[in-house]
Amino acid sequence: MKIDILTLFPEMIEGFLNTSIIKRAIASEVATIDIHNFRDFSTEKHHHVDDTPYGGGQGMVLQVMPIVECLKTITTPESIVVLMSPQGRTFSHQVAQEFATFKHLIIICGHYEGFDERVRDYVDMEVSIGDYVLTGGELSSMVICDATIRLLEGAIRQSSHEDDSFANGLLEYPQYTRPYEYDGNTVPDILLTGHHENIRKWRLYKSLEKTYNYRPDLLEKLELTDEQNKMLAQIIENKEKQ
Ligand SMILES: C[S@@+](CC[C@H](N)C(=O)[O-])C[C@H]1O[C@@H](n2cnc3c(N)ncnc32)[C@H](O)[C@@H]1O
Repeated sequence: MKIDILTLFPEMIEGFLNTSIIKRAIASEVATIDIHNFRDFSTEKHHHVDDTPYGGGQGMVLQVMPIVECLKTITTPESIVVLMSPQGRTFSHQVAQEFATFKHLIIICGHYEGFDERVRDYVDMEVSIGDYVLTGGELSSMVICDATIRLLEGAIRQSSHEDDSFANGLLEYPQYTRPYEYDGNTVPDILLTGHHENIRKWRLYKSLEKTYNYRPDLLEKLELTDEQNKMLAQIIENKEKQ
């Protein structure tokens, strides 16, 4: 997968590209990421890319021309152009799965008061990472790249993300590692039995329990299997007894 990021602050993203799983994914050519500073496409004397808003008001607005000129140099018929914006569709695991099927993703990071509205004529979609306002789109572009790249074949083992929260609509079950006992708290003994079927059932139960306790809204969207329905009924009964 090819990703291009348009930003005024490439230095914010460089550390991300050189760390851990993303660094390995780039080295093994699972993904390539190129950063473009759209300031380079300004024709103004001091390379300004922002100006005051028409009609008055606070702050500076990013001009349409440098962004569109930058896009022209990298867009192909396969490109999907995504604008980082708090006004967009909310990013989620499902959106990351959709993005992981794209051959070429172009992400535009805003700054200051955001974009001249006409930039929106040149993008395929607007994406937000949540209902809050960041100072710029760099953090959100990294969130999107990270969540998407880890789903690509060859980035991490497929089995590593199959049980992750949201992958099957539920939150992940509790995980433990050594030591067996810490500060009086021990690891659930079932995990030491080596009995794969019992461990699978325990994990499914705990996954449903966590989802019921923390994110019951997720359960409403799911069509549960008979086994899951029985476990959920048990979880609800246990909770009512408490
Ligand atoms: C200060 S914000 C501009 C917000 C804009 N004035 C508004 O109210 O919609 C600057 C830039 O940060 C990025 N940004 C801020 N919040 C974001 C969010 N929740 N998701 C994605 N990008 C965000 C966008 O690229 C945005 O253009």
